[in-house]
Amino acid sequence: MQTSWIPFVPPSASTLSGKVDALYFYLSGVTVFFTLLIAGVLIFFVIKYRRRSPYEIPRPVAGSHKLETLWSVIPFIIAMSMFAWGAQLYFQNSRPPQNAVEIYVVGKQWMWKIQHTTGQREINELHVPVGRRIKLIMTTEDVIHDFFIPAFRIKADVVPGRYTTQWFEATKPGKYHLFCAEYCGMNHSGMIGQVVVMEPTEFDNWLSGNTNQQSPAVAGQQLYQTIGCVSCHGTNGEGGRGPALAGLFGRQEFLNNGQTVKADEAYIRESVINPQAKLVNGFGPIMPTFQGQISEEQLVQILAFIKSLPAAGVQSNAPAPAPAPATAAPSRAASPESNR
Ligand code: CUA
Repeated sequence: MQTSWIPFVPPSASTLSGKVDALYFYLSGVTVFFTLLIAGVLIFFVIKYRRRSPYEIPRPVAGSHKLETLWSVIPFIIAMSMFAWGAQLYFQNSRPPQNAVEIYVVGKQWMWKIQHTTGQREINELHVPVGRRIKLIMTTEDVIHDFFIPAFRIKADVVPGRYTTQWFEATKPGKYHLFCAEYCGMNHSGMIGQVVVMEPTEFDNWLSGNTNQQSPAVAGQQLYQTIGCVSCHGTNGEGGRGPALAGLFGRQEFLNNGQTVKADEAYIRESVINPQAKLVNGFGPIMPTFQGQISEEQLVQILAFIKSLPAAGVQSNAPAPAPAPATAAPSRAASPESNR
C-alpha cells in the first residue's frame, strides 16, 4: 500500500509495513464513515423532527425486529473482520521465520547495543541488508525498554530477565529512525538511533570491513572456559557432572520433577542465572548461580556458544556421559523421586 503522499505517515520500508498500513486505514475508514453517518443523520433528524408547535404530539413508534437485527449484525461483522485481520497480522509479526538471520540486541540506560552473529558490534545503529529476514533477540541490562522501528511498523518491549524477539524484512535501502518506546528514565528521549538498510553487496562489504571482532559464539566459548562451565559440562559441552549442552538448543529436556521443558533462549538463560529452577533429570543441585557475575551481553555469548554446538560429532571423545537427559527419560518411571 502506497502511503508516501499522506503527511505524518512514516516511510514504509518492510514487508510488513504495507499490511499494517492497510489495516490501519481500514480501521480509520470505518471510524470516519460511521462518525460522519451518525453525525449527519443526527443533524438531519433534529431538523426534520423538530417541534413545530407547542401542542404537537408525536406519533408513538413501535419497535422493529428487522432494524434491531440489522444494526446488531452489521457491527458484529465489522468488529469480527477487524479482529480476524488484526490477529492474522499479529501472528505473522510475532512468529519469526525459521531461516531468519539472528541479531542480538541488549538495551541499557540509555543506549542500544547490537551484535551480529558474525561478531560486529554497533551502538545505536543497526546495519541490515535489504530483502533478508532478520530476527532480533532482545534483552536489557536494567529496566524495560522498547525497540521501535516506525518505518518497519515493528515495536516490542525489551524486558529484564527475558528474551523477546521480533523480525522484519527490509524492502528499501535507506536510513530509518530507531526509537526506545518505553519510558525508561531521564534520558529516555535520547535513546534513539538509526537503522541502515543496505544493498546485500554493500552490506557484505560493511561486514567484512568490521571483522576484527569476535563472534558471540567464539566469545562465549572463551567465557565457557574462563568462568568454569567447562569443568562440569565438558570441553565441548558433552556433559559429565552437568547435563550435556551439545545439541541442547531446541531439545526437550526431562526434569527432576517429571516435567519436560523446551530448551529455548529463556530456559538456557534461567539455567545460568538460577540453576536450581529447573533441574535436569539425573542431576543434583550442584551448579552455582552466575547471577550478578556475568552481564547480559556475556549471557548472550554463552547462549550463542551453546546454540553453535552441534548435536552429533562431539560425542566421539566423550566418555559416555552417564545420565544424559534424553536417554534418562524412560528410567523416570522407575525412580521413586519422580512423583515428588
Ligand atoms: Cu529505553 Cu526508553
